[in-house]
Amino acid sequence: MAVKNVKVPNTEGFWDANASTYSMSNMTHAHEDSELIPIFETLDTMGQVYGMACIGPADGMREPISLLEHLHTKLPRELILNDISSEMLREARKNIVNTGWDKKISIITTVHNPIANVENLVSSIPCRNTTFCIGVYSADNMMDALKLYSENTDRLGCNFKLRTVIYNEKDHALEQIDEFEFNICEYMSVMDKISLLRITPNFYAFGVVTDKDFVSHYFDDKMLNSVLATIFKTHTVKTIKNVNNDKRYITNILKSNTTYGNNYVVTTLNNVLGNIKLNEQLLSLEKINMFFS
Ligand SMILES: C[S@@+](CC[C@H](N)C(=O)[O-])C[C@H]1O[C@@H](n2cnc3c(N)ncnc32)[C@H](O)[C@@H]1O
Repeated sequence: MAVKNVKVPNTEGFWDANASTYSMSNMTHAHEDSELIPIFETLDTMGQVYGMACIGPADGMREPISLLEHLHTKLPRELILNDISSEMLREARKNIVNTGWDKKISIITTVHNPIANVENLVSSIPCRNTTFCIGVYSADNMMDALKLYSENTDRLGCNFKLRTVIYNEKDHALEQIDEFEFNICEYMSVMDKISLLRITPNFYAFGVVTDKDFVSHYFDDKMLNSVLATIFKTHTVKTIKNVNNDKRYITNILKSNTTYGNNYVVTTLNNVLGNIKLNEQLLSLEKINMFFS
């Protein structure tokens, strides 16, 4: 029997290695406004926010810092930051201290672990009415994503594997059905193939993994909406697209079906969900729901 050697990408190592230069990368700030506008609008509809949790905050500049600046007079008393990368959490903590937010928030907890492996995340805020904000990249805009990656090979690597992922509704499972390799500098040569794969029945996402352990996924908005609705059963999912004409980004706002409890906001922005390894994606969402609903 042939044994295939499947290398598990070291995503923690990738993000650790990129932590000190993350803030100055052109990739970090591409399309920043369209990623934050729907979150600001959501915060504007809320009264006092009692707690906020940011899953995958990276350098912390967008979430929590931009969100705290926007909240202004409705600041949370609890802030939880969870990241797979201890170096990213170090950057986030440094930026929070440098901007003085550590003096304005009573409890700041950092949790270093992939969210799927976190067993207990105890919040000090009782009776939460949680709004989840989940921002991801769209599978309809692979061309622009690959172009940006071809300009950042020193960071991401050159050798890309691209896989097609479908959602098996019956078993509530994600399945990889196809994979091919290419050099990112030749991304134009795979665009026709990608267009064909995009119409696969039950398409959930395209996934890429590179020789530098960068993992990313690009989602079908309708399928992701239905997966989120399956997991976050006590919430209603609203999917927002094309903010500022940005076809790359999809924001999902999940509002609780009841109005009872203290306002709590959980963010996972700028494609954190996409950066999670495929085998941990559903479990990661289930954990986020379990900890904060
Ligand atoms: C593209 S950055 C997003 C940064 C930030 N949310 C923003 O809006 O700028 C992805 C972040 O997700 C983190 N991450 C990746 N996989 C993770 C996992 N399984 N659990 C928690 N964090 C993860 C990475 O370390 C990195 O900080």
